[in-house]
Amino acid sequence: MCHDAAFLIVADGRGILHCNDARLTAAQARRAKHLAGGRLDLMALQTSGASWHPICYEYPPEEMAKVSMAKRISKLRAAQRLVRQTEPELAVPFAGPPCFLDAEVSHLNWVLDQRDGAFCDPEVSTAWLREHLPKQRWDYFLPGDAVDLDTGDITRDPVSAEFSFADAGAYLDRYAADRAEAIAGVLAGYPEPGPDLFDRFKAHFTHLGGLSDYFNRHIAMIVRFEITGPNGGVWDVDFAPGGATVSTASPDVRPHYRITTAGRWLDTVLTGRMAWEDLLISFRLSLYRDPDVYNDYLVGLLKHANAPALQAVEEYETGRDESERITVACDGARYDIPRYCPHAGEDLSVGAVVRDGQIHCLAHNFAFDLATGECLNARAANLTSRRVS
Ligand code: FES
Repeated sequence: MCHDAAFLIVADGRGILHCNDARLTAAQARRAKHLAGGRLDLMALQTSGASWHPICYEYPPEEMAKVSMAKRISKLRAAQRLVRQTEPELAVPFAGPPCFLDAEVSHLNWVLDQRDGAFCDPEVSTAWLREHLPKQRWDYFLPGDAVDLDTGDITRDPVSAEFSFADAGAYLDRYAADRAEAIAGVLAGYPEPGPDLFDRFKAHFTHLGGLSDYFNRHIAMIVRFEITGPNGGVWDVDFAPGGATVSTASPDVRPHYRITTAGRWLDTVLTGRMAWEDLLISFRLSLYRDPDVYNDYLVGLLKHANAPALQAVEEYETGRDESERITVACDGARYDIPRYCPHAGEDLSVGAVVRDGQIHCLAHNFAFDLATGECLNARAANLTSRRVS
């Protein structure tokens, strides 16, 4: 279970900041340090995610390696910058990579290969961060390890000490065999859908298309669903101003996005047993997009799926106060841009990298063209940028 919130614990004159699943801005981390009395004894931060991109995407191998490495490095760089700004006594990378016990998704365990995967384990994260920020003290923990905040001494748990990330594959095989019966029991609770699957699919997307015209206009594309198994099919959802049109796919239509999943998993969403985000994070689907551009509005619609939440996003995006502005320099030119990222408000004065005529926000890795303000790697709100002389 993930909670998108950080925890600050201050007790006996010691301060611990656990960033958990939250992407703290540098200002938030510094404020936490201030609240802890100006000193953080331990700061734990997530250096690896478990998102369906890129793992569930249908990329050719070289492309997958490239996209994965870019994602890995961007996450590590964001951690490096946050720790450099916060300077805790001990920084502790944690999390990732995801791993799978169920045979249906166990082929995805290739991500445990630390040469190519987008998500690295704490040992690899710690080594990278030590190398890139050598004056900072870094360490990582396994279950049962303990740290004495007064002395800084770490006591290793004897059972965990026998675990090695290098043997994760064999460990997982044993674990999967142990849990096989329990997993089979859970899977048995998800029967195949009946012949009304398409009708319910159509009703579902017709409903989603009626929730927010702002989202329909920004999604503006055809999403193809390839539903495998009994009563499945290939179905298109065309998001356009006015709503979403659902039809059986035609070979003449080229979709921009393709989502492949089994009917039994789609059924869980249609019956409300699971949200789209749960299905995505279950990795029981594969995705393809052409062009390869993240559509923040499509994911937002599936994720929120209710009119008040979508309305709140619209109000946020259309009513943003961009009066606080900063100037950034790049390749001999200077640009006036809003201080806060138009996506989710990261402070671009500290949480961004400027290079090659672009500004890369480190919070979710969106890149904006400084000359035009256009978001280059996602269909998302643009930056209001203006060149200054
Ligand atoms: S806040 Fe998400 S990309 Fe900037």
